[in-house]
Amino acid sequence: MEVYGVKSNYKIDSFYFNVLLNFLSDEEQNKINRYLKWEDAQRGLIGKILTRAIISNRYGLKNEEIYFSANRFGKPHLEGFKDFHFNISHSGEWVVCAIDSSPVGIDVEKINHIDLDIANRFFSEEEYRDLIELDEKYRIDYFFDLWSLKESYIKAQGKGLSIALDSFSIKKRGDVISIKGNDKNCYFKQYNVAPDYKLSVCARNNNLPIGVNIMELNEFTPYSIDSLGGNCRG
Ligand SMILES: CC(C)(COP(=O)(O)OP(=O)(O)OC[C@H]1O[C@@H](n2cnc3c(N)ncnc32)[C@H](O)[C@@H]1OP(=O)(O)O)[C@@H](O)C(=O)NCCC(=O)NCCS
Repeated sequence: MEVYGVKSNYKIDSFYFNVLLNFLSDEEQNKINRYLKWEDAQRGLIGKILTRAIISNRYGLKNEEIYFSANRFGKPHLEGFKDFHFNISHSGEWVVCAIDSSPVGIDVEKINHIDLDIANRFFSEEEYRDLIELDEKYRIDYFFDLWSLKESYIKAQGKGLSIALDSFSIKKRGDVISIKGNDKNCYFKQYNVAPDYKLSVCARNNNLPIGVNIMELNEFTPYSIDSLGGNCRG
């Protein structure tokens, strides 16, 4: 498995944005163009360019040879490569992507001050109990640990929110992360990309890497263009 992260902390100028957009399929371009906020459009675009760059590098494919489809819950996969799995997540300034030979889920969340009642509504009883038993000053941090871990699990399964968030329980004690209920055959790991973010990965294999390959936008975008080398269709 490999995990990649790109910091998207400034606005790409519109010329460069359109150059990058042109590498995507019509359907992908339409999705990016439908975002109302430029931050969402840029994060979505970077995620798709990053994935194409990784695939192109790994398999020596030209950009126009890369086709994606999605399962009925919207999880994208690369057509024609059944042993290649990937997942993307974006939040705040970060876009991340995990690749593996088995289904994988990744989730990045920016920590912000939210009403913890949301945990009572969405987390399992056990998770909520673990949360409120913590000293108040640790609760927000643990809430986002659980949120990103739960999302990574749901995204690895690829069934979206058809999996009830309270149908499984995650517990984190130190670096040890365990899951109860539902499908337990998975491994979790968290990465510290920035102090105000939580990044969690859920995989079928216990071959989770030690760290994230961090790529700055200014090194990553030319790299993408070089490695992609052509426009895309389909
Ligand atoms: C769509 C969902 C899979 C993730 O949504 P999200 O957390 O808002 O978004 P992320 O940035 O982490 O992930 C988005 C990416 O996941 C991928 N994705 C889409 N559907 C997916 C699915 N069913 N399974 C896995 N990955 C999926 C796509 O690549 C998407 O990127 P794109 O929109 O640029 O193509 C889904 O889990 C969801 O809607 N979650 C709602 C969040 C929530 O209520 N969480 C509560 C946790 S306690």
